[in-house]
Amino acid sequence: MTSAPKKLYIKTYGCQMNVYDSERMAEALGAEGYVPTDRAEDADMVLLNTCHIREKASEKLYSDLGRLRAIKTDNPDLKIGVAGCVAQAEGEEILRRMPLVDLVVGPQSYHRLPAMAKAAAEGKKTVDTDFPPEDKFDHLPERPATGRPTAFLTVQEGCDKFCAFCVVPYTRGSEVSRPATRILDEARKLVDRGVREITLLGQNVNGYHGAGPDGDWGLGRLVRELARIEGLARIRYTTSHPNDMTDDLIAAHAEEPKLMPYLHLPVQSGSDRILKAMNRRHTADAYLRLIERIRAARPDMMMSGDFIVGFPGETDADFRATMDLIATVNYGMAYSFKYSARPGTPAADRSPVDPGLADARLQELQALITRQQQAAQEGMVGREVSVLFEKPGRLPGQMGGKSDYLHAVHVEAPDARPGQIARVRITSAASNSLAGTLLD
Ligand code: 5AD
Ligand code: SF4
Repeated sequence: MTSAPKKLYIKTYGCQMNVYDSERMAEALGAEGYVPTDRAEDADMVLLNTCHIREKASEKLYSDLGRLRAIKTDNPDLKIGVAGCVAQAEGEEILRRMPLVDLVVGPQSYHRLPAMAKAAAEGKKTVDTDFPPEDKFDHLPERPATGRPTAFLTVQEGCDKFCAFCVVPYTRGSEVSRPATRILDEARKLVDRGVREITLLGQNVNGYHGAGPDGDWGLGRLVRELARIEGLARIRYTTSHPNDMTDDLIAAHAEEPKLMPYLHLPVQSGSDRILKAMNRRHTADAYLRLIERIRAARPDMMMSGDFIVGFPGETDADFRATMDLIATVNYGMAYSFKYSARPGTPAADRSPVDPGLADARLQELQALITRQQQAAQEGMVGREVSVLFEKPGRLPGQMGGKSDYLHAVHVEAPDARPGQIARVRITSAASNSLAGTLLD
């Protein structure tokens, strides 16, 4: 007798590492007979892969669990799991607050998920938020082909920087790098399955230092070795800390054409006083000089960043310093957030900036960033870029993909297939994408 396959619905919140982890969890449960579904109503198991970075992100878990209660009333056999950084931060507390939850699993314990799912099927609730000594990736099944030409690959997890606002050092633990040999193996397998672009992931990715066959490798060396894989066309990495931008990594940007000219390098603030209060351990000037060196290595580098406004103690002068820094750098892309006090972090009990003032500053900052982003998009018009096609575009005969600079580009290319890389002339810029025509 064979039973119908069990259906798994995963909802992913937050960063790209969660996207990667969700895929790996789906694979781990796939080996146990679970097939994916995109409707929670049809699922035998729902996994919520959560984010704890800001209060709003955390609250989504509880509102979604509220909605799942109705589904579980209709289908009492439904199992509900909470994974990710809220699971890590709140652990048992989630079961107390939300008795409909069957399992809680922290990001370092995903290889234990199949056993936890079995326990849930037998009516046993489990919580696992350990930081086990073994590498979870060694115990997860091989990655199947997804048909997509781009993939994430986690190379490093955790963070030792302890920025005063940030939960990551607590939820993801201290910095651990995967061995370079494993990463090369995983990358080769991805390329064999049709992947042409790999984005290396880490909370502090440029702090990577993993064991290679001839000693410890930094990210620069890892990138150079990955670039030797035939068939792999593009390499990206995210997220970086300014203090870990080594000479070797900067040189790799000059020397390695597969390393794409787009760099996400958060600075958070342009005020030295606030940077110090944030425990960032660099000044605004050091960041600006770093960007000069990066642009000397790769003049067309598209810069991206993160900003927090309304950090405790931020004055108007501090905010002006941030605006000045943004004006100097000229970002192609940037993300900005209103400061959100996170329990357990050093800044959590400092007196907050007036929320109305913080909102006004955020709006002003976002308007500047939007102008820079639009200028960057418009600046692409007339230029020749390479586009990696990912999927058919909105209109018939169109393909959609990403440029070297990570812009979304739509191209009239009826004969093209996903995975192909074409030279394209950009003909126009819309607010969130570019249009172009095929060259040759
Ligand atoms: N409040 C607001 N933004 C935050 N970030 C991290 N922690 C907080 C917080 N407590 C932002 C930072 C970081 C990005 C991922 O999220 O800008 O770079
Ligand atoms: Fe958080 Fe990034 Fe700072 Fe680490 S470097 S504490 S992940 S903001």
